[in-house]
Amino acid sequence: MKATNRRDFLGNAAKLAVAASVLPVYSFANDKTSAPTGKTRLALVGTGFRGTYTWGKPVVEGYKDLVEMVALCDVNPKRAAVAKAIMGISAKTYEAKDFDLMISETKPDIVIVTTTDCFHEKYIVRALELGCDVIVEKPIAIDAVQCKHIADTENRTGKMVLVGFNARHENLSIEIKKIILSGELGKIISIDYQECLNTLHGADYFRRWHSKKKYSGSLLLHKASHHFDMVNWFLDSDPVDVQAIGKLAFYGHNNNYRSRNCRNCSFAEKCKFYWDMTKDEVAMKLYGNCENEDNYYRDGCVWDNEIDIYDTSSVQVNYDNGTELTYSMNTFLPFEGQLICLSGEFGRLEVRLNDQQPWAVPAEMEFRLTKDRETTRVWTSKSEAGTHGGADDRIRNMIFRKETPDPLGARAGSRAGILSSLIGIAARQSIETGQKIKIADMINFPNSWKG
Ligand SMILES: NC(=O)c1ccc[n+]([C@@H]2O[C@H](COP(=O)([O-])OP(=O)(O)OC[C@H]3O[C@@H](n4cnc5c(N)ncnc54)[C@H](O)[C@@H]3O)[C@@H](O)[C@H]2O)c1
Repeated sequence: MKATNRRDFLGNAAKLAVAASVLPVYSFANDKTSAPTGKTRLALVGTGFRGTYTWGKPVVEGYKDLVEMVALCDVNPKRAAVAKAIMGISAKTYEAKDFDLMISETKPDIVIVTTTDCFHEKYIVRALELGCDVIVEKPIAIDAVQCKHIADTENRTGKMVLVGFNARHENLSIEIKKIILSGELGKIISIDYQECLNTLHGADYFRRWHSKKKYSGSLLLHKASHHFDMVNWFLDSDPVDVQAIGKLAFYGHNNNYRSRNCRNCSFAEKCKFYWDMTKDEVAMKLYGNCENEDNYYRDGCVWDNEIDIYDTSSVQVNYDNGTELTYSMNTFLPFEGQLICLSGEFGRLEVRLNDQQPWAVPAEMEFRLTKDRETTRVWTSKSEAGTHGGADDRIRNMIFRKETPDPLGARAGSRAGILSSLIGIAARQSIETGQKIKIADMINFPNSWKG
């Protein structure tokens, strides 16, 4: 799919130096704005938790010298009003149907898209068409038609999309990327990647919109798009084909009682997934007190018969550089973390991440690098303070303070977003059809992407 280019001939050590120079320069933030203040004007669509607490409040407070939030938009006007109060701003709020009006009235330079996953494409495309650049949360899109639409629109308008792949900015990813680039492992022949989600975090996906494929595309998009992107980025290579198996073996229909949601549930006493959201101030503010607008219950039942995503999945991906990825996700485990093993021509790296909960406690990582039969180098590390192990701070800096160095090429554009989504989409199709899915059969890439 990707023609061999100069990079393929370079040694690994040289790659690190070259990475920054061959990647596109993302310069949209801070250097052009129609505002008299000289600040970049931001509008945010999707004022839920991620929008408010990652791209809202910390951006408004931490980058006030560079940006101003001029508008908020959500399908739920109450939630938009709550988000505005949490951010402490005077921006105008708009209903989703008035998105175009918002752009024409408030003239943002950048639209930040943090809606439910299935609506990302709609807002990306419209924002680009109306002359804005875009920052979008992962997954960039949840089906191949959406992916193509985004790629074509970006190409046509000359505007730019950045994707919020904060997982690239975690210490774990940075360290793995550096080890690969150091050449110690040689060519990476295969990767085994296990994602383990527990009955707190993992279960939470089954309470929310994430549990329906029509909204999230399944966890193969919503969650694993991070991991597929990490591997694409580690390898600097494109996926060629995908096959997968998956099932719903624990949540959803796999129980003999259920309710609509936890509050007022008659099984509260015996259900180990009962969650009293009235004790969670933020959840009540953002969701509980706004639910009469959209009937969205943040404490939905994990045993809902309508749940149709997989809680168990295994995916195999072949890459165009020959690397094989074997990826699995289990969402009902007693612990949470990851095991990532890279087998290279000169040795093997095993990385184990033990997530601590509550997440305020830094996660612990163990690295084991074996290069011959006698010696294994073992060392430990911790994630940083801050949300997602400090990765949210790093990605915001990378985007808004453009002088922030990016020696590993961690800034991610639409191409990266689309390739990671395509792996998840192909995996879902493979589970549904039993077929191996070729990425090139799913989408015609714009000419500028080839070669
Ligand atoms: N990178 C990360 O670490 C990370 C973490 C959490 C969430 N996310 C992503 O952020 C996005 C938001 O997730 P969240 O947890 O904040 O969910 P959420 O449910 O709290 O927020 C989604 C918001 O979108 C709004 N919305 C739904 N349909 C809409 C429409 N058609 N038009 C306008 N607004 C609409 C909802 O009312 C809600 O306010 C998702 O895409 C998710 O994948 C990323």
